Amino acid sequence: MSSGTVEPVSVDILGRLEALARFSADGPGVTRFVYDAAWCDAHRWLAKQAEALGLAATSDWAGNLFFHDPALEPGPNAPPVLLVGSHLDSVKHGGNYDGAYGTVTGLLMAAGNRGRAGLPVVGFVTCEEEDSRFHGGMMGGRSILGRVEDHDLDAVKDRDGVSWREALAFARERGCAAPLPSPLPRAPLFRPALQLELHIEQGPVLEAERLGLAIVERIAGYRRWIVRIEGAARHSGTTPMAMRHDALAAAAEMIAAAETVALEAGEPAVATAGFVRPSPGLFNVVPGACELWLEVRHDRPELLRALGEALTRRCEEIARRRGVRVALEEGAAQAPTPLSTGLAETAAGLAQELRIAYRRMPSGAAHDTMIFAQAGVPALMAFVPSRAGVSHSPDEFTAEADLIAGVRFMGALVRRLAERPPA
Ligand code: GLV
Ligand code: MN
Ligand code: MN
Repeated sequence: MSSGTVEPVSVDILGRLEALARFSADGPGVTRFVYDAAWCDAHRWLAKQAEALGLAATSDWAGNLFFHDPALEPGPNAPPVLLVGSHLDSVKHGGNYDGAYGTVTGLLMAAGNRGRAGLPVVGFVTCEEEDSRFHGGMMGGRSILGRVEDHDLDAVKDRDGVSWREALAFARERGCAAPLPSPLPRAPLFRPALQLELHIEQGPVLEAERLGLAIVERIAGYRRWIVRIEGAARHSGTTPMAMRHDALAAAAEMIAAAETVALEAGEPAVATAGFVRPSPGLFNVVPGACELWLEVRHDRPELLRALGEALTRRCEEIARRRGVRVALEEGAAQAPTPLSTGLAETAAGLAQELRIAYRRMPSGAAHDTMIFAQAGVPALMAFVPSRAGVSHSPDEFTAEADLIAGVRFMGALVRRLAERPPA
């Protein structure tokens, strides 16, 4: 290996990713929602892996997991650390790599740097990033950094009405979370001096340009709404078309409007309708109500704001014209987030020294790293290629050689930053 790089203790990344992928609910791909049975099993498996590598595995109250030198005691007296990792949860029917690749990398980085001089290297696994079970807005990143209040635990509920507090009790009973301190917020178990995350690109750019590595400069933000439309439920056979107030037909127009506003704004604007639930949902009733989830993303704050305003205005116009009522409840949002330019320079310099062909790029996907960067922690991400750009799908795939090259690069970057932390 080139000097300055760290050979991880064992580079069996693929084996570990395949093992993690087995911790999933039934159905295609990986479905691992925060605090569910598969998540708890994966959490315990990761802790055992860490212990087998001579590390301590410590959970905080939210079930975020840290891999660290057993000599390093977490808590207020711990020195600042270099945190490296990603998230344990997945989307419904996701792939083997999103989040999992970064968590395994964090494990290998902590093991490869155990007992070495410099900034202590701690691997982290956030409990939640995907917003799949709860709409809590990056519950993992927020709780790791001590940015969760007591009332959040009761206010954040899943689709079945189970609160964050109740779901957490299930994980705690399985040994996957520490006792809940009161009151929240509580200081982080480890104060991050720097934070890094290695991830699959989840888009097509690296593959198209035949590059193995990207240094991420900024992460797009998003705005999300739960749209509730109220029309009039009527007999589908007897209500003339001109006399209907069809909530689902209004939602369909709003979905098309979301596409239009993003296309009009141009790249990298995107808009998605991810969920629609008409009521009562029968052949023979004009839908009287409909719930619709809309999301817009952009990497520039002013353009994200404008995109959101254009979409909400159009939804209101559609509702007025169709004689239905609409309420747009804005949910968790993330601001477009720049990452550390200093760390990006260090990473680019290192890639050049190691003769790795790379590019800089923004991320369209959201990541835990946003939360660290927003909290003022110098933070950086690197990407490896995704086959055909596919992600959030069972078809997600990255070649083993690319996975290993990414971990080796991250090993070298971690070592450099641990030895020579930026001032
Ligand atoms: C997470 O993957 C997101 O971009 O929403
Ligand atoms: Mn994801
Ligand atoms: Mn991810």
